[in-house]
Amino acid sequence: MTNLQNDRFLKALRREPVDKTPVWLMRQAGRYLPEYRKLREKSGSFLKMCKTPELACEVTLQPLARFPLDAAIIFSDILTIPDAMGLELGFVTGEGPKFNKTVSDVESLRALAMPDPEIELRYVMNAIRTTKQALTQRVPLIGFAGSPWTVATYMVEGGSSKTFSKINKMRYQSPALLMQLLEKITTVTTQYLQAQIAAGADAVMIFDTWGGVLTTEAYAQFSLAFMQRIVDDVKHFSENTPIILFTKGGGQWLEKMATTGCHALGLDWTLDINQARSRVGSKVALQGNLEPACLHGDENVIRQQVASILAKYGSGSGHIFNLGHGITPDILPEKVAALVDAVHEMSQQYHQVTVS
Ligand code: CP3
Repeated sequence: MTNLQNDRFLKALRREPVDKTPVWLMRQAGRYLPEYRKLREKSGSFLKMCKTPELACEVTLQPLARFPLDAAIIFSDILTIPDAMGLELGFVTGEGPKFNKTVSDVESLRALAMPDPEIELRYVMNAIRTTKQALTQRVPLIGFAGSPWTVATYMVEGGSSKTFSKINKMRYQSPALLMQLLEKITTVTTQYLQAQIAAGADAVMIFDTWGGVLTTEAYAQFSLAFMQRIVDDVKHFSENTPIILFTKGGGQWLEKMATTGCHALGLDWTLDINQARSRVGSKVALQGNLEPACLHGDENVIRQQVASILAKYGSGSGHIFNLGHGITPDILPEKVAALVDAVHEMSQQYHQVTVS
């Protein structure tokens, strides 16, 4: 039961009938929008926007004012958790996130704080509460967190990495230390997602951006096992709140991800969604999987690619249209408008059932 005016996204997550395929985009609020760039300049920094509920709310709503998207995602970042655990997050223009402190040994692990989401991360909960009110039940609001493995890569490397040399060294030389770090992140992340749901998030997504760099065995041990615990404990807290798991580059592990009990899997663009559906579609909904670079194409190209993904998924509910990863800052907003319209228009033929 929901009072939402548009609950297509939540229905598709539960694989219940819908009139059209719902669509939202990862990073739908961000630098490709001129109004975002303007507000960021005015407010001074990305982190300031995340930490000021009114600004986070405004940015969350920006893409919805332009496009008939079927969901909003709270404007925040996966690195709020390590910041609240004491690593002191900063963003260096052109270089991305940088932490003043990192986790490298037993002392730095012990020094980590275990933040209370309603104290140290209250700004996120307030952003959710403010945004829920401002949305006036138009569309659902998605909450999110990074997977423990993905968040750990930033905490150990001190920022973004191409090689993951420090965390891989830790994985082979001090696996027990890494496991303890993942335990701590898992505990905080579980409470964080539960608090987001209590504050009003209608669904939650776990971004495992770097799970795909692991071997099959290491993925099961260092990433999936911890996401499993989060899924169990979030479901225990709120049985009906849908949980989406997204491991970028994790296509080979879809079956394992589907058995966690999550409600949907995010798909990057390297998979064929038809094959993905036949592998796991009776267990979970699927979200994705347009190549983000497709938005460099003209409107006809975008329409063709949308048509192809919709046809490959085929008839029936259980698909949430999205990109296979975040939208990049060099995309023109008009392309997003064309994409969203194409999904709504061309998907109707796949949903011929009567919706009550
Ligand atoms: O999707 C949305 O619109 C919600 C907001 C959101 C952001 N980050 C805002 C953001 C979400 C869901 C994230 C998740 C996130 N953050 C991930 C996982 C998803 C993914 O993209 O793989 C990761 C790995 C991060 C960490 C992070 N945050 C990095 C590596 C960077 C720098 C790279 C970049 O794109 O600039 C960020 C910054 C960031 N997070 C920006 C935004 C809008 C850009 C900040 C700016 O310069 O204005």
